[in-house]
Amino acid sequence: MSKKILITGGTGYIGSHTAVELLQKNYEVFLVDNFSNSHSSVLQGIKKITSKEPHFTKLELTDKEAVAAYFEDHHDLDAVIHFAALKAVGESVEKPLLYYYNNIVSLLLLLENMIAYNIPYLVFSSSCTVYGEPDKLPIKETAPIKPALSPYGNTKQISEEIILDLAKVQENFSAILLRYFNPIGAHPSGFIGELPIGIPNNLVPYITQTAAGVRDVLHIFGDDYDTPDGTCIRDYIHVVDLARAHIAALERLLNNENETSCEIFNIGTGRGHSVLEIVHTFEKVNNMILPYVIDDRREGDVEKVWADTNKAQKILNWKPQFSIEDALRDAWQWEKNYRGIKS
Ligand code: UD1
Repeated sequence: MSKKILITGGTGYIGSHTAVELLQKNYEVFLVDNFSNSHSSVLQGIKKITSKEPHFTKLELTDKEAVAAYFEDHHDLDAVIHFAALKAVGESVEKPLLYYYNNIVSLLLLLENMIAYNIPYLVFSSSCTVYGEPDKLPIKETAPIKPALSPYGNTKQISEEIILDLAKVQENFSAILLRYFNPIGAHPSGFIGELPIGIPNNLVPYITQTAAGVRDVLHIFGDDYDTPDGTCIRDYIHVVDLARAHIAALERLLNNENETSCEIFNIGTGRGHSVLEIVHTFEKVNNMILPYVIDDRREGDVEKVWADTNKAQKILNWKPQFSIEDALRDAWQWEKNYRGIKS
């Protein structure tokens, strides 16, 4: 019998790519989403790639009764991968209560129901944002957690603490927290990818929308940082590699290989790239010129950050397979497909 896995935020960017990897490994996949930052068309994309259909339920994870009813109907799930959350850093500063309410209440309800129905395994979508401005690079999982720079970042820190506290005392409950660096790219098929609603906050969707002519010009936030070309440095990871890290984490839990009830892994490539490097690589692999201007720094941006990925490589036996060039080619392929742009 195949294991039954619930993915919250299942039609979102990382959730949909993880659904594809799970279906391809013959898991029975259950997706829930409230479509607050995704489209139902993603379900067709998943089906096109895998020739399989995940179960889907539109669900508001902050609705206590609706969540309880969902779990009553799905009490035989084997594990949960929890992605559903709001994630726009700037918006979280404007609307802190929305972020705390949405990201924390949904987690609490999910955990309550997992415990009530004895669903023992959780993989949680955390973020390198918990490290803030790092003292030492690359960052290891043991690096200190810094005061969060935004309510969004704080929700990730609080969520980690909630899960750690629960895992300490709750029998028959284990979790893996994955701290992602910057996911980019799209499925190489071009059938699913990042589909932000409204003006993108993140770099690569802004680049692809500029290339598509939806945005006039890319704004680069600051070129006076203490980095070789003055622009910020991040660890960009292909979303399919990131999705596969979730499968590795899930299987560690399902096989009872975890050594403690809550383990933490960085998921990145271990290499940093500047904003300008990303822009120029995008231009090179896609053979185009991208219009950009240098703007002021964006408030709350960290200067440079990249991961020490040794722990994930050794313990999860996971390693990224795609390059930055692959990711930027796939991102553009997806944007073109989505907008019906001919090459
Ligand atoms: C941040 C968080 C990440 C979180 C994500 C959610 C950190 C280090 N990272 O990512 O954990 O999951 O938000 O959205 O806190 N940039 C431009 N022009 C743009 C957009 C971005 O120059 O139009 C630059 C930014 O200044 C930054 C880089 O591109 O240097 C990446 O930005 P972005 O894609 O927004 O991700 P982070 O802010 O790194």
